Amino acid sequence: MSNASPASASAAASAISAGHRKVLEWLESSDSKRMLIGGKWVDAVSGKTFETINPSTEERLAYVAEADSADVDAAVAAARRAFESASWSGISPHARTRYLLKIADAVESHADELAVLETLDNGMPLSFSAARVAQVAEIFRYYAGWPTKIYGTTNPTDSARFIYMLREPMGVCGLINAWNVPLVMAAMKIAPALACGNTAVLKPAEQTPLTTLRLAELIEEVGLPPGVLNIIPGFGATAGGALVAHPGVDKVAFTGSTAIGKQILQSSASNMKKVTLELGGKSPNIIFPDADLDKALATAVATFCGNSGQICSAGTRLFVQESLHDEATERIAQIAATYKVGSPFDADTKLGPLISARQMERVLSYVDAGKSGGARLSLGGDRVGNRGYFVEPTVFSSVSNDMKIAREEIFGPVLSIIPFKDEDDVVFKGNDTEYGLASAVWTSDIARAHRVARSLKAGRVWINTYAEGDPVMSMGGYKQSGFGRELGSESIDAYTQTKSVYMRL
Ligand code: NAI
Ligand code: MG
Repeated sequence: MSNASPASASAAASAISAGHRKVLEWLESSDSKRMLIGGKWVDAVSGKTFETINPSTEERLAYVAEADSADVDAAVAAARRAFESASWSGISPHARTRYLLKIADAVESHADELAVLETLDNGMPLSFSAARVAQVAEIFRYYAGWPTKIYGTTNPTDSARFIYMLREPMGVCGLINAWNVPLVMAAMKIAPALACGNTAVLKPAEQTPLTTLRLAELIEEVGLPPGVLNIIPGFGATAGGALVAHPGVDKVAFTGSTAIGKQILQSSASNMKKVTLELGGKSPNIIFPDADLDKALATAVATFCGNSGQICSAGTRLFVQESLHDEATERIAQIAATYKVGSPFDADTKLGPLISARQMERVLSYVDAGKSGGARLSLGGDRVGNRGYFVEPTVFSSVSNDMKIAREEIFGPVLSIIPFKDEDDVVFKGNDTEYGLASAVWTSDIARAHRVARSLKAGRVWINTYAEGDPVMSMGGYKQSGFGRELGSESIDAYTQTKSVYMRL
């Protein structure tokens, strides 16, 4: 590489897509990326910036304005003004529909750019980010249909009275996201919040602020009134903390770790904010011997390796019946060994890097815990290379449900294969966790499929598949995976409140 000729350098440059070239121009177009407050792109009051890096190369991508409490104050004030202005609260639901449809179109017409930027900032394979961008457009389009359908009710009563229920927006929503699927999370919060007539202040994760900022630029271009959407990049303890504690915020929607979720619940109590929490998981993926094993095992690998395991609903506890344990382990390891770890821009890459050095160290420490805890390491367990935060697909077998690697969310490409005796045993073990985000059951016995689906204590159950989604279907947690739901009609519930009106005639 070091003695590459100018000719081969330009050949390499021409190999990047038009979208990629636009992203590089966008990154170079300013000294630092600013925050969006009240329809204006501004620096932090403190003038501070922070770096966001490319986790594949460990190189800086951009400096980004770093919000703190003064910026949060300004953003919340702007969101309040927008919420109360006739240009937002006074418009018809049809107009909100048109805004959301235009946002979906803008996302689609910039899909290549957004996918490349997501891959640069987060490290996810380009095929994965492209699929996520398509999902983002679909989420905006799904919620675009809602404003004209958010009905109240007329309530049954006698002829002397008239009772009805209005469904109204919450007001100013504080939205806080994690770094693992930044654009999808932004869409999952912004789209229903705006569909219901709220205004929002969004803090993207400090590791991945760029696509949210670019999405906000696109949203600005559709002519949304100033202050309806504000973006304040920054850190959790400062910008995030100030947003959650702010007396001018009516609702908080948070995606991230269970530990921070608990803190958020406490600090939001100051003014009784309505809170929805989308937290961690340790989801059981249950394969019965009568399942389509080829499909079940291939999907089991895809789900624990997808986004390098940095997915809240990943199926990280794989339950197989005792008689199948050794065969399943061997086949899982064989399939996972074919998964290429490498540059997320290579078409055949299945696993890009983890998000950060800290996350990589955390994941590798769980590998040590698995080995010292008595599980059998059947594949992987090491870092790949010494530049970028790449970790091999890692499979532990003969895991018991009480081991640390079976109890804690690892958020990396690490699978625990746990044997079970029978249906009762696996339902008990599957539910024996403090989490309850997702789950799956694989079987050809239709009665068993639905019986187990009812028995599992999780916000999502897949039958004979994993990780497929649709904006019509909600997600969210039982137990310490949080509360409130995102997507589907339940997000409309989460971003509205009801008012009963009683009139004596
Ligand atoms: P985190 O929960 O600290 O961060 C998530 C978001 O919350 C970020 O935007 C962060 O800036 C913000 N935040 C942090 N502290 C805050 C506070 N006091 N007030 C308000 N906002 C705050 O997660 P982190 O440290 O990035 O990841 C640590 C672990 O959490 C991961 O290894 C993983 O196990 C888990 N995690 C789970 C996710 C999920 O979707 N289930 C997503 C991200 C992390
Ligand atoms: Mg980054």
